[in-house]
Amino acid sequence: MKKDTKIVRGGLNKKRNAGAVNTPVMRASTVVYENVAAMRETIARATKGREKVLYYGRRGTPTHWTLQEAITEISGAADTVLAPSGLGACTLAILGCVKAGDHILVTDSIYEPTRSFCSGWLASFGVETTYYDPLIGGGIAKAFKPNTTLVLCESPGSLTFEVQDIPAIAAAAHKHGAKVAADNTWASPFFCQPLALGADLSIEAGTKYIVGHSDVLIGAVSGTAEAIAGVQKASHALGLAVSPDDAYLATRGLRTLGVRLARHQANALIVARWLEAQPQVKRVLYPALASDPGHALWKRDFSGASGLLGIIFHETSDAAMAALIDGLELFGLGFSWGGFESLVAPLAPAGARTAVAWRDPQPGVRLHIGLEDPEDLIADLAKGFTRFQKAL
Ligand SMILES: Cc1ncc(COP(=O)(O)O)c(C=O)c1O
Repeated sequence: MKKDTKIVRGGLNKKRNAGAVNTPVMRASTVVYENVAAMRETIARATKGREKVLYYGRRGTPTHWTLQEAITEISGAADTVLAPSGLGACTLAILGCVKAGDHILVTDSIYEPTRSFCSGWLASFGVETTYYDPLIGGGIAKAFKPNTTLVLCESPGSLTFEVQDIPAIAAAAHKHGAKVAADNTWASPFFCQPLALGADLSIEAGTKYIVGHSDVLIGAVSGTAEAIAGVQKASHALGLAVSPDDAYLATRGLRTLGVRLARHQANALIVARWLEAQPQVKRVLYPALASDPGHALWKRDFSGASGLLGIIFHETSDAAMAALIDGLELFGLGFSWGGFESLVAPLAPAGARTAVAWRDPQPGVRLHIGLEDPEDLIADLAKGFTRFQKAL
């Protein structure tokens, strides 16, 4: 099946849904059994048989399974584990692959809170992290130590938009016996399937495009049978659970992911091309543009681009950046992205780099291009550029 069909039909199960199209929200902690034999049989099916059978609420209900199955299908995975947030999915994926004494390689473009988890918590539990140049490609082979068990990618990075050569990185990692996990939030499983590129685990902050309406926090890790087993084990050990209401809303968002992303992409391209033509702009960080250094890899490995992009100015200042942002009417000032609406945030990636310095002038501006009419967005930005120029 094609991916548009997969996101619409994935996980649909008439029997499970009692005839309803969407799996209703099923809330459960306690599950009661007919008798001891039935209890034992259910536990065995759920644990040894890994069946999705109602056993205890923390292990999920049909509402969760529908979402898990749909994400599994679109990701080309063996299974999916849900997490209470995107960051929770990042940390869970790592915990599913490491033990004390291990060494991991993490891209220098990684989402900052994931970096904090690696440098702080993981270090305190005896796992060492080395940050690597996001553009290293197959050159990563030289960075492995005998105890390297995981390479973490994020492509493109959500601040610097560097596109990583995941097939080359995965080839080197597998030669070494290490696993590869990729934060795939920018593209979502609709525009990129890291497992098809050689990764073992694909991480989604479902909070962004899968939910799509800026009102739910949720994460997902999808993987090969071997890799996801470790993640499942970590999730069970940590006692993680996701609200069935959130799982329901994420499934509802997933069904329209294709049409929303197509519009995000079309709008973002129009705005990105307008931005490129502004005299103050040094470059627009958006891999779908032919001018982007990651364009060739993006074309090879992705089937589309989402709505998140960065602007680097020739000359900039804090006052000019703030003047641009503060007067915008259609762009909310806020973290996160992936909802139906446009957002803006200051862009200053240099402080979070340790492997390779980020040399472009900062602050820049990060935009999430929503589903509004791009002409209105451009008119709003044009006024912002006038304010920027005056405040320089
Ligand atoms: C690339 C990336 N990964 C993970 C996350 C974390 O997602 P959440 O906010 O759901 O924890 C974010 C959030 O901004 C992100 O940008």
